[in-house]
Amino acid sequence: MNAAELKAELTKKIEAANDLGQLDEVRVSALGKKGAITELMKGLGKMSPEDRKTEGAALNVMKDDIAAKLEDRQKTLKKAAMDEKLKSETLDITLEPRPARKGTIHPLTQTMDEMIAIFADMGFSIHDGPDIEDDFHNFTALNFPPKHPAREMQDTFFLPDAEGQDGDAAKRVLRTHTSTCQIRAMMELGAPLRKIVMGRVYRAEAMDTTHSAMFHQIEGMMIDTNTNMGHLKGIMKTFCEKFFGVEDLPVRFRPSFFPFTEPSAEVDIGCSKTRDAIKIGGGNDWLEIGGCGMVHPNVLKNVGIDPEKYQGFAFGMGLERMTMLKYGITDVRSFYDGDTRWNEYYGHDPINKPNLATGV
Ligand code: PHE
Repeated sequence: MNAAELKAELTKKIEAANDLGQLDEVRVSALGKKGAITELMKGLGKMSPEDRKTEGAALNVMKDDIAAKLEDRQKTLKKAAMDEKLKSETLDITLEPRPARKGTIHPLTQTMDEMIAIFADMGFSIHDGPDIEDDFHNFTALNFPPKHPAREMQDTFFLPDAEGQDGDAAKRVLRTHTSTCQIRAMMELGAPLRKIVMGRVYRAEAMDTTHSAMFHQIEGMMIDTNTNMGHLKGIMKTFCEKFFGVEDLPVRFRPSFFPFTEPSAEVDIGCSKTRDAIKIGGGNDWLEIGGCGMVHPNVLKNVGIDPEKYQGFAFGMGLERMTMLKYGITDVRSFYDGDTRWNEYYGHDPINKPNLATGV
């Protein structure tokens, strides 16, 4: 076979090689130790110097040409192999993850987050206090006289006395209301003050659809030099309108009594009741949502704030009750059952944090 024929044949084989293995066989058959081009090169030795010169040059050109063709084909085949590999290993990142069971925000937590959003907008920040309180913070400092019937009325859970303490600081109770934190906030921070507190409270009550021995309250308070009932009513009305998403919600104060506020009031909001639904808004019925009043001068004195200089108001609401009214939940006990079906039904989207821009 002469050089031209060999070149034509090798070129055909190179083009026909469909994978890197086949191509390598062609390479070995042409340029290997016993390859066809190698053999032709060996033949140069037997030629006359003139022939060797011309033949040798031609052979070298042919050899380089075949080597270049082999390399080209190798590149093409490598790329094809890589493309094939990439195609089979593709991760389709546009695919949605399998819908995993999504956790939900418990309605009570949602209510707390909503209340924080609303009150923060009105300049209130959060204060806190312990669930296990002493008699001083739960009663005495809040102007409950020693034998006041309210101490019994509250159905308090009393705990063993604290060791190494005297008097009403030794007597321990599970707090019966978050008003304990009025005392804590005022003693810790003084006046002026704008705080809310949310947390558990405990009362020795039989459990039924509307009563629980443990439930949650929100407490709010504002102390300043010129604070009055009008501010209190404005704050309550604004809060209720935002919380229930009702414009111009009727709010009324009904005279009431708490030892730590004077005057004191129950807060009612307007609603209409039918046989199987309560609609919050206008209508000719009222729903009680909490208690409030102007902080009693004795309470201010008890925490070292001058009642001649500062006045303030306080309010308290039950968080379960507010949540039940807002979302139509009918049994308070269901909040604590931990039934995942209930949580899924009444729970909230964890991604959607309550904020005032979109409404709570
Ligand atoms: N602490 C009262 C209760 O638990 C509610 C309340 C709070 C009333 C603040 C007046 C002011 O019933």
